[in-house]
Amino acid sequence: MITSEYEFLRGFLKSRSGLVLSNEKQYLVESRLVPVARRHDLASLSELINSLRKPGTKQLQEDVVEAMTTNESFFFRDKTPFEHFKEEMLPKLLEKRAARKKIRIWCSAASTGQEPYSLAMILRENKIKTSSYQFDILGTDISKEVLDKARLGQYSQFEVQRGLPIQMLMKYFTQQGEIWQVSNDLRAMVQWKFLNLLENFSHLGEFDIVFCRNVLIYFDQPTKIDILNRLAKLIPADGYLVLGAAETVVGLTDQFEPVPHMRGLYRPKQSAGKQPEPQKMANSLKAEPISARPAVGKPHVPSFSSPATNTPATQNTMRTNSASAPDKPQKFDREKLNASLDSLRRLNAQSSNKG
Ligand SMILES: C[S@@+](CC[C@H](N)C(=O)[O-])C[C@H]1O[C@@H](n2cnc3c(N)ncnc32)[C@H](O)[C@@H]1O
Repeated sequence: MITSEYEFLRGFLKSRSGLVLSNEKQYLVESRLVPVARRHDLASLSELINSLRKPGTKQLQEDVVEAMTTNESFFFRDKTPFEHFKEEMLPKLLEKRAARKKIRIWCSAASTGQEPYSLAMILRENKIKTSSYQFDILGTDISKEVLDKARLGQYSQFEVQRGLPIQMLMKYFTQQGEIWQVSNDLRAMVQWKFLNLLENFSHLGEFDIVFCRNVLIYFDQPTKIDILNRLAKLIPADGYLVLGAAETVVGLTDQFEPVPHMRGLYRPKQSAGKQPEPQKMANSLKAEPISARPAVGKPHVPSFSSPATNTPATQNTMRTNSASAPDKPQKFDREKLNASLDSLRRLNAQSSNKG
């Protein structure tokens, strides 16, 4: 690819998805876009770029944007945000929303769905406290492929191996051959929508909690500032913003302040002029039918870990081909999973024999 073509692509991606590509990422662009060119019967990347410049190539444009997204995700990723959810956000909001009995959560870069489903599992684990409340969980992403997969709720053994405690696997998934299917109960708790964070999202209404994790890292400063300031408008004064481990609001906006001693957790600044509860709920989410469309397109390439340790692997290790994915390669321990599954099955069989 010649320099002018690469420059065109960089500008195209920046304006469409916010993705900022450095000069050294040419290899990544090539490896991700060659398959797109083939799918569109284009003989080379130069041809692909020529086509992109023409009007009427919407599908190609979408496919290029999708191919350049990095969709790395796993269940209970980074653990701490989910502990904060359980220990801080949930108890406080249950108290503060006692009159309204409704709590809205938005995972704004939900990828293949592990983040919203992790939250749904925590809610189910706390059923006694939460059962009288309505929880709306919305997962959005710029990639239709990952949304299809999220909606379907099907994960490979590798994917459920990453971060998901074995008890939760047994409780909320069923094994169908090589696939682990999320229960219909959890699937019904989450709604999915296509949404580009660069575009207006005020129509979604207010959210008590917004997860915006591991997506701002791909954007430049003005884009991060713009998104954070627009998010601040959707979160009431007693709500929360959750960012990824490599992300912060510091130096970008004064609309949020960190929650002391809770890394990655922010609240709108009280002085930002917003009132806590009661607040208007602009748009309640309309239930979308859960489609059973098959996952399509680019395979998700997970890296593997033992849920117990998350230690870097020396064997059975894969790495995502991400632009700057902050995660280390991790280890997949199939034997350990099978052994745990066997013992859980034995325990289940023993208890049903007794009953
Ligand atoms: C690395 S994943 C993060 C997934 C999850 N939040 C987590 O932390 O595990 C980043 C996601 O952001 C999505 N994304 C990238 N640019 C976006 C944009 N402009 N609007 C919405 N989503 C975007 C990608 O498609 C990808 O699925």
